[in-house]
Amino acid sequence: MPDILISEAIEGSAVDALRSRFDVLYLPDAWKSPQLLIDKIRCCHALLVRNQTPVTAELIDAAPQLLVIGRAGVGLDNVDVEYARQAGIVVAFTPDQNAISVAELALGLMLSLVRFIPVADRDTKAGNWNRRRFIGSELYGKTLGIVGAGKIGYLTARRARAFGMSVLACDPFLSPDNVLLADLQAELVAMEELFARADIVSCHLPASPQTSGLVNFACFERMKPGSYFINTSRGKVVSEPDLLAALKSGRLAGAALDVRATEPPQQGELESMPNVILMPHVGAWTHEAQGRVTVAICEDITRVLEGRPALSSVHQATPQRLPVR
Ligand code: MLT
Repeated sequence: MPDILISEAIEGSAVDALRSRFDVLYLPDAWKSPQLLIDKIRCCHALLVRNQTPVTAELIDAAPQLLVIGRAGVGLDNVDVEYARQAGIVVAFTPDQNAISVAELALGLMLSLVRFIPVADRDTKAGNWNRRRFIGSELYGKTLGIVGAGKIGYLTARRARAFGMSVLACDPFLSPDNVLLADLQAELVAMEELFARADIVSCHLPASPQTSGLVNFACFERMKPGSYFINTSRGKVVSEPDLLAALKSGRLAGAALDVRATEPPQQGELESMPNVILMPHVGAWTHEAQGRVTVAICEDITRVLEGRPALSSVHQATPQRLPVR
């Protein structure tokens, strides 16, 4: 009987260490089949996932032995966290471990947009030498708007400050005297004002019913002509049709998306626009971040299975249920 089901591709020495202590069932493609998940989870005490396994109430009901769900990452939109809490199951996750990587990608996308790096690369490799076509802009002196000033938003803004940008932030959970805002010399403003004043808006919102479609036509319409939009958080927080309209109207000079409303997305107009940079949700995909994430989540699963509290859990740190024998 397996102790732990791993339903997505998660590897490394920390997973090997799990295997040395527990019986691990490694099915990296299981996330694609809800029925396979239900069949395999029945006897497991732990489930380890990334962002693709739908950890639904139905799956939780099929797992009477389950004590801990480990989410190797920060976003919890694929886990029915409240249902797990009611069932007494620990939901462990890794809120900090990939933040630097995502912030670095946001900066990379900013530079890529204002200096046309991907399109100039393609053009030059095609045999051209179009220096005039690629006159870009500096980040220096520009205003960055951070929508959602949590850890990743903060780390992105800190790096932007090093480039000489000034920072606006909006976040309903922060007060104007927040010490991190002071550190950034950032102004806390309403979302409407942020979109109206920023040269570049970088989105760092979690997916939730409250944030779904929050960045929409009304936001883009307020932006200065020639501004840029970046999203490295969750695709569902942005209305893609409204973003496309803002790009087509010229209101936005460009956009960069690491995340999409549906992943993988259908091919559409965004895919063919030269001023749009698209990435396959790889903000957290660095050797360093994945190393940290895997070590932390394997450690927490081990702790719970050995009767110790998780170090990083969404609600309860120890299971509030006895596995059915
Ligand atoms: C996260 O939520 O940690 C990142 O978006 C990467 C992922 O979803 O696994």
